[in-house]
Amino acid sequence: MRHALILAAGKGTRMCSALAKVLHPLCGRPMAEWAVEAARQAGCTLSVVVGHQADAVREALPGCSFAVQDPPLGTGHAVQCALDVLPLEGIVLVLPGDAPLIRAETLEALLESHRGLCTVLTMSLERPGAYGRFIRSAEGSYIVEAAHASSEERAVKEVNSGIYAFDAAWLREQVMGLKPHAPKGEYYLTDVIEAASAAGGLSAVEHGDPDELMGVNDRVALASAEAVLRGRINRAWMARGVSMRDPDRTYVDVGVRLAQDVRLEPGVILSGHTVVEEGSIIGSGCVLHDSVVGAGTVLRPMVVAEGARIGGQCSVGPMARLREGTVLEPTVRVGNFVETKKAHLHSGVRAGHLSYLGDCEVGAGANIGAGTITCNYDGWGKHRTSIGEEAFIGSNTALVAPVSVGARSIVGAGSVVTEDVGDEDLAVGRGRQRNIEGGAPKLHARNRRRSGK
Ligand code: UD1
Ligand code: CA
Repeated sequence: MRHALILAAGKGTRMCSALAKVLHPLCGRPMAEWAVEAARQAGCTLSVVVGHQADAVREALPGCSFAVQDPPLGTGHAVQCALDVLPLEGIVLVLPGDAPLIRAETLEALLESHRGLCTVLTMSLERPGAYGRFIRSAEGSYIVEAAHASSEERAVKEVNSGIYAFDAAWLREQVMGLKPHAPKGEYYLTDVIEAASAAGGLSAVEHGDPDELMGVNDRVALASAEAVLRGRINRAWMARGVSMRDPDRTYVDVGVRLAQDVRLEPGVILSGHTVVEEGSIIGSGCVLHDSVVGAGTVLRPMVVAEGARIGGQCSVGPMARLREGTVLEPTVRVGNFVETKKAHLHSGVRAGHLSYLGDCEVGAGANIGAGTITCNYDGWGKHRTSIGEEAFIGSNTALVAPVSVGARSIVGAGSVVTEDVGDEDLAVGRGRQRNIEGGAPKLHARNRRRSGK
């Protein structure tokens, strides 16, 4: 039986944050979920110790059992609080909730190699900083926290990763005997190491890649950890045929799906459940959340999409904003400074410049002139606009919803359309132009007189 216990009750004081440390997102996934996923992939059942912002942490980690530690009195106390959810025997992995870079393979190897009472994963660091020092000694090995270490102990470069495999029955018995440390009265899980060593049941496995065992205590470490995860995600996509011109500046969250021959330009940010299908190009600075991009589509730079479905062979941007409920059927062209919301544009629609299309249906092949606005809000509620196929909407038209414009109709530029337009009709709704012969110099003369110059 393999079980993993994740310690996630701490506040994370060094983050200086209103959000619990273990909930800070890394590549779109809360910090603690990375360790949970690695343990799950290594075949473990899971329990989590929660305390600070317990409800939010529970919600972020579905499929786990939970134990509550309140107030948090140290990592040893956290395990004490979890006795009800821990198995009585077998192997228990203990992982901190702030070690998001740990891989499933490493946990599998730890489980395979574990014999006896306790196996600690350690690493050697040039600057061991605040990590607990792992002191190997013939008289008995132990871990000492940096804050309590002598200068000799502090000089030791091998440190505790906070990741261990324990014999479950032995761990249960040991944590009950822990003593608190001054000044904060905390119970350290690391204190059981000495007893394991004394009983001849301790192994320490030094891991070759310290990056992977990194503990995130502050925002600087958060950024470094995210860079490592980003690198892993990006390399995996490149191995599957995605091009990234500058992988260090390409941000693909863990829930995103990309197809072969997708090209991502620098500064692209893809998050949520975004999907990009085969051969599409996502231009520099595009930010897509929970959106789908069909095959062979080109998003030019600076397209912002949220909850949008973009069909294949479309061209969007530069600088377009597709808001929730936008559906672009294949071959639609949307140009610069066009905003859409709950807008369904059928295939071949062109909206090239400077428009707002909200709460509307636009038929296949319609042309939306520059500056067209669907006036969908009358101060009380939202109303729909419907534009028929092959309709031509002249520049600077205001379509005052609810209103419908028929198929193959034409609306003259500058119209304010308040009444429905039938199929194949021509609508012009604007003030008639008047030309006054020689009127310009007369107007200048009058203005000069009035200003006295
Ligand atoms: C701990 C280890 C240290 C090790 C380091 C590795 C101890 C005493 N120290 O120190 O030897 O080098 O991890 O990163 O174990 N937590 C609780 N309840 C608590 C306290 C902490 O659930 O009462 C959780 C935190 O939410 C966090 C994890 O345990 O996810 C580690 O706690 P943290 O305070 O970061 O321990 P470190 O000081 O880093
Ligand atoms: Ca830590």
